[in-house]
Amino acid sequence: MGQKEAFWTGIIAIGDTSFGDSGKGKITDIAAESAHLTVRVNGGANAGHTVFNKFGEFKFHLIPSGIFNPRNVNYLSNGVLIDPVRLKDEVIELRERGVEVNMLNLRVSEAAHGVFTWHKVKDRLQEERRGKDRIGTTHQGVGPAAAQRTERSGLRMKDLILPEKKLKKKFDEEIASQEQFLQLLSRDNKKGQKKKQKSELLDRDTIWKELREASDVIGPMIGKINQDIWEAQDRGENIVLELAQGALLDPFYGEYPYVTTTHPGIGGVTVYTGINSRDIHRAIGVTKSYLTRVGEGTMPTELTDGVGDAIRNRGKEFGTTTGRPRRIGWFDVPLVRYGIRVGGFDTIALTKTDVLDELDVINVCTGYLIDGEEVTDIDTIDTDFLKKAEPIYTPKKGWQKETTGARSFEELPKENQEYILFLQDELGVPLQLVSVGPDREQTIYRAS
Ligand code: IMP
Repeated sequence: MGQKEAFWTGIIAIGDTSFGDSGKGKITDIAAESAHLTVRVNGGANAGHTVFNKFGEFKFHLIPSGIFNPRNVNYLSNGVLIDPVRLKDEVIELRERGVEVNMLNLRVSEAAHGVFTWHKVKDRLQEERRGKDRIGTTHQGVGPAAAQRTERSGLRMKDLILPEKKLKKKFDEEIASQEQFLQLLSRDNKKGQKKKQKSELLDRDTIWKELREASDVIGPMIGKINQDIWEAQDRGENIVLELAQGALLDPFYGEYPYVTTTHPGIGGVTVYTGINSRDIHRAIGVTKSYLTRVGEGTMPTELTDGVGDAIRNRGKEFGTTTGRPRRIGWFDVPLVRYGIRVGGFDTIALTKTDVLDELDVINVCTGYLIDGEEVTDIDTIDTDFLKKAEPIYTPKKGWQKETTGARSFEELPKENQEYILFLQDELGVPLQLVSVGPDREQTIYRAS
């Protein structure tokens, strides 16, 4: 077995050590080339991943990246919060662009909770109400849907395949109670505003029609999935577990409340997919060569100058889901090391090093000054703590050479190699993959 094949054999989990958007889509797409199963673990349409391959460029929110491999069966696990209309749109787009999607290669867990228009309206109204304390959510309704799952109410994928009359009854009850609540929220938000606005928040007929269309398309894919996954595991097949968001956005370990609602670390695998995380052979933490964040929250190394703008433009750092410009910062070792620990990753895939190609100096934050004391290891990223953190930088010499054509570590400029080895040393885990561009081929494997 060659190095590449060996790397992707077994149960491979792929997550993000930081705030998401590190390029998991590309890494998962490569992993899925050798996989029999790709299981999306968590998140919802708040996630966005870009895949660039022979079919073109795709921006997905829900569909697992293994959809391009004809031998792959793709699963949306119990833990994914599924917007059926978005999922239907993605299925149709893929079909229109020549990619086969059917009930044989896409399976949707009947136990997964649904995300509907009312969740998105609630997400938006709650953010409006928070005002300057807003979280900066993606407005995809994932938080409100997760809250409903915890409350044990709402509609699941299972409901979408009920006989039409039964589904309509459930839908009517649900939308009526949601409408009431949203009206209250909306009225509250508008207190003090002179002009009265349109009171109808949910257009029931349109929402019902969209839901029916979505269930026609995705209904055949909905069913039980656990046994299939366990059987594949027992047969020793290659399974890719595709996590969404990033470990620093974990609802328990992130900078609450500036967090997402499902667990983006390896711990999520056990809870959401039924595969025990102890059975994972490789837990890859995808890490970008600099830091980005979308939404609110603290970012000690944030760059608000021209360097930040240059990195944003060269790295095309605009949200896949929202289009928002991403906040940019220097690589932050204490944060990423914390993300690796709470995320449970054992190896690193470093992405987008080529974005730094033109810089003459690249700073790496290797510690913080907090109340006059130097701190390198952190056990919280609470706002009160992070706000006090003044980054201590170790400047690294830039390589100022194009690296997108490199296919081995040795082909990278010396300073680039040094940057990578420096990060590996600081992070304390093997850095086995380096990505120098969006194509599958622009990936360098390193022996651990
Ligand atoms: P929500 O998940 O839409 O509720 O947003 C909560 C926080 O997580 C916000 O800061 C979002 O910008 C962030 N977030 C959610 N999904 C992603 C993602 O896939 N990548 C990066 N940030 C995300």
